[in-house]
Amino acid sequence: MCGIMGYAGQKPAAGIILEGLARQEYRGYDSAGIALRCEETIINAKIVGRVSELTRKVKNMPPECSVSTSGIGHTRWATHGGVTETNAHPHESSDGMIVLVHNGIIENSREIRTRLESEGVKFITETDTEAACQLLAVLYKERGDARSAMSALTAELRGAFALVIMFRDIPDEIWCARKGSPLVAAFDGSASYCASDPTALLEYTHDLFFLEEGEMASLSPSRCEFYGFDGTERRKKTIRLNWDSVMADKGHFDHFMRKEIGEQPDVLRLTIDAHTIVTNVAMDKSLTLPSGLMKQIRRVQFVACGTSYYATLVARDIMESLDGELDIRAEVASEYRYRNVIGGGDTLAIFVSQSGETADTLAAARIAKAKGTRCTAITNVRGSTIDREVEHTLLSMAGPEVGVAATKTFMGQISLLALLVMALLKDRGTLSAGDEARLIGGLRTLPALQQAMLEREDEIKLLAEKYSDSKGFFFIGRRECVPLTLEGALKLKEIAYLPSEAYAAGEMKHGPIAMLDEKLTVVALAPDTDLREKTLSNVEECRARNAPILLLASEGDEGARAHANDIIFIPRTEPELFPFIGVIPLQLFAYHTARTLGRDIDMPRNLAKSVTVE
Ligand code: M6R
Repeated sequence: MCGIMGYAGQKPAAGIILEGLARQEYRGYDSAGIALRCEETIINAKIVGRVSELTRKVKNMPPECSVSTSGIGHTRWATHGGVTETNAHPHESSDGMIVLVHNGIIENSREIRTRLESEGVKFITETDTEAACQLLAVLYKERGDARSAMSALTAELRGAFALVIMFRDIPDEIWCARKGSPLVAAFDGSASYCASDPTALLEYTHDLFFLEEGEMASLSPSRCEFYGFDGTERRKKTIRLNWDSVMADKGHFDHFMRKEIGEQPDVLRLTIDAHTIVTNVAMDKSLTLPSGLMKQIRRVQFVACGTSYYATLVARDIMESLDGELDIRAEVASEYRYRNVIGGGDTLAIFVSQSGETADTLAAARIAKAKGTRCTAITNVRGSTIDREVEHTLLSMAGPEVGVAATKTFMGQISLLALLVMALLKDRGTLSAGDEARLIGGLRTLPALQQAMLEREDEIKLLAEKYSDSKGFFFIGRRECVPLTLEGALKLKEIAYLPSEAYAAGEMKHGPIAMLDEKLTVVALAPDTDLREKTLSNVEECRARNAPILLLASEGDEGARAHANDIIFIPRTEPELFPFIGVIPLQLFAYHTARTLGRDIDMPRNLAKSVTVE
């Protein structure tokens, strides 16, 4: 939930570290700090606030800092200890020998702190991180050797950590270690780098070392060396990440989120082209799981959190619409991990995580693996923990997503999931040629329809402005619309901070309808399918309680106008594929509502993009 960056090279370090932090600011943004080696000393600067404020403070650091060629930085999402300058990282040991940044949670920090305090060590922060910092100082003093002290430290810490460390008396070298929190390192020939997120390093190189669980490294201008926590040397190979660093730039847009919403037709097009044979509709072999796998599978479980979970609901619905005999479920990872969910060799679990680092999803995957379940992942990040831990990974093709609210990665997930579902059912022998042709044909027309939807932005903006003073929102819909009601409500909560709930339309009368009045807006999704009439009846029940209705209906469905105060027409597609277009007006509605209310869209309060703690 924090972003960390380290640099040891020959160029001025401050700018490189600040740039790396800015690229990772979506991970945490309540405070930030930097430590630069300046000759014999290490100088710290910290602020409460954003990286831009840290950049201003760095300009006032002593002149020698501007020529410093190594340092570490941190952007924080507070877990232990309030948001204060003192609690911001980097932390310094009381003897001044260690300066350290951390992402994760040290679970035994209390014990360590109590023990060290009884030995006379003075703590100055409320953070769990300081325990690691002070402990390392003690261990380094005892052992006199960085590698050995790092081994002893990592053996003693419980919980999750990515640590980046400077030893005051070891110039031009930084150390890092990883357990449970992501960490990636790189060497470009004259400098070493490390960061929480690969996008911070792509400007320098695309060949990255992803640290494994239980690995540490020493980084200097001439090399990266890797070790196990026991101190034994490890040879590591780089993984090439073909993301363009400009993909992580805002371009001419005011917000990353808006830019990313607009990239969805390309994400969909790319996914379809990569995974289908252009001349006919057959699935590409590379998409399928080990051949014959589906012959042994009786159960399919999709497991994920947040928006990724809603993507799995779309997949579940498509799959069960095509095969009524397979047991298909979608589960929230934070529950899956604590329930006694059935598993084993006849179960295929598909874990979906944009970041590949979500703690609950990783824990769920480990539990499934231990039960002998066949585990597959869909992630947007090659080399992420989930990619490395499961049997088989499919990469979504969204490219880096910077806005905290997921948009184009949802599209990357649902498009890959739709293709995967068809490939699995084809392998199982239950996908009819007619359905395959219908759905692949439908998917191919979607990018143009999405583009048409995006072109109605001005209309959606006006509606967002009109309804932005609502006291809350209910999103309602049936079947293929249910995942979108959840996603539409989540987007509004995340970036506009407005109360918004999602209900299967038929559930309204079982309780939620009691809340309706003229200040609570109902956003109803009623495309022209066999369920149109049923949903419109539920809409009428809401109208009868004076709730303003914003209706999403199929293009040309003029009859739907009579049921709504305002209407957004959605291009027609196959019913199962409605979420691919229907999500766009909901994302734009949330975006423009948040804009109208002056919210911080790319970095909403209290959130972090990747939730690496439980
Ligand atoms: O990286 P993941 O896909 O595993 O993340 C899961 C959720 O934390 C994520 O989708 C979250 O709900 C987003 N902020 C939604 O916009």
